[in-house]
Amino acid sequence: MRVVVGVCGGIAAYKVVGVIRTLVLEGHDVHVIPTESALQFVGATTFEAISRNPVSTDLFHGVAEVKHVALGQSADVVLIAPATANTIAKLAAGLSDNLLTNSVLASRAPVVVAPAMHTEMWENPATQHNIGLLRERGMRLVGPESGQLTGSDVGVGRLAEHDAIVAAVTTALAPRDLEGRTVVISAGGTREPIDPVRFIGNRSSGAQGVALAEAARDRGADVVLVGANLEVPAPAGVRTVPVSTVAELREAVLERSGTADILVMAAAVSDYRPTTTAEKKMKKDAAGGGTSIELTQNPDILAELGAQESRPVLVGFAAETESDESALVELGAGKRERKGADLIAVNRVDEGRGFGTPDNEVLIVGDGGTVAARACGSKRTVADAILDAALAVRR
Ligand code: CTP
Repeated sequence: MRVVVGVCGGIAAYKVVGVIRTLVLEGHDVHVIPTESALQFVGATTFEAISRNPVSTDLFHGVAEVKHVALGQSADVVLIAPATANTIAKLAAGLSDNLLTNSVLASRAPVVVAPAMHTEMWENPATQHNIGLLRERGMRLVGPESGQLTGSDVGVGRLAEHDAIVAAVTTALAPRDLEGRTVVISAGGTREPIDPVRFIGNRSSGAQGVALAEAARDRGADVVLVGANLEVPAPAGVRTVPVSTVAELREAVLERSGTADILVMAAAVSDYRPTTTAEKKMKKDAAGGGTSIELTQNPDILAELGAQESRPVLVGFAAETESDESALVELGAGKRERKGADLIAVNRVDEGRGFGTPDNEVLIVGDGGTVAARACGSKRTVADAILDAALAVRR
């Protein structure tokens, strides 16, 4: 998607470099339009290097390409960060005295505004009135937040955090095709206690499940995230139910499956648990040089859901270590059949792939055990592909 980022002259401009980088890494085509004063804080070279696109501020540069309207017209979303009181006032008045304000006027795309300024300027009735006008016209505000400002003062006016700005942009870009639907997602990895300090666990961080929750939220769904020992922060705007053991995860998922339209079992669930859990920490001397732990098989939650007559669209995961694609598809097809799921997202895992990495690669096995879709890229890209495939099952 094409993201136009307008940067105004405020010290928070340096933080926006990180936002631009994230948007580029997520696969967006980012075009930066700094105002003249923004360049006092961050140079055009930095914006060009980070956005991987040429940067111009001058209204009368590249006139042959009609740049003053072309950038705005071609944008899928416009982000203004930091938005200063001055630019906010210009937007409220509909002025077009520089490339940034021209581009906003020439665009029909959603506009996300992330203000940053001193508290007095933010609270000034003129600024508040202007912000009210922008809101009325459908612009989306993110922040400002309260906290330490540039000097020693503390108050409202800090630029919103990096993640909040990125989320506002991705939300503005997302189709609202899950509006009115409930999506339940399990994520993370279960822990089965051996004693009060030890457990049987796995290497799932929960990042793919959290990306699914974010994607579903952005597409308008009501999202429940059943999070097993998540190592990544749970996203804002979703209902998170923290769990740890398989029994807790099972109860939380079954309780909510009745109201779900789509249920994704992204959690890595332990197939076994210790038959008994020691009440006190186990001592090595008591084991006499060697020991064993007796294990009991856990219920298969996905299979249990798959056997229900009336059930949501069911998506399971299969983390496999095979390297051959046909073997991966076969494993996915077998798992789909055994568990009664609609789709199985098969991903190859080994050292440096799958667990703990920012990217993922999945084959989505569907009807008749064939490949319904494949996705490769950021966990967010993979999440959107899985939701697309789940929606296709519904239809
Ligand atoms: N799953 C589940 N309950 C379990 C184990 C797994 O609901 N007790 C779900 C996982 O969340 C995942 C899918 O089933 O969506 C596949 O899990 P996996 O462990 O690969 O399946 P198994 O049937 O255990 O297959 P394998 O023989 O490969 O271990």
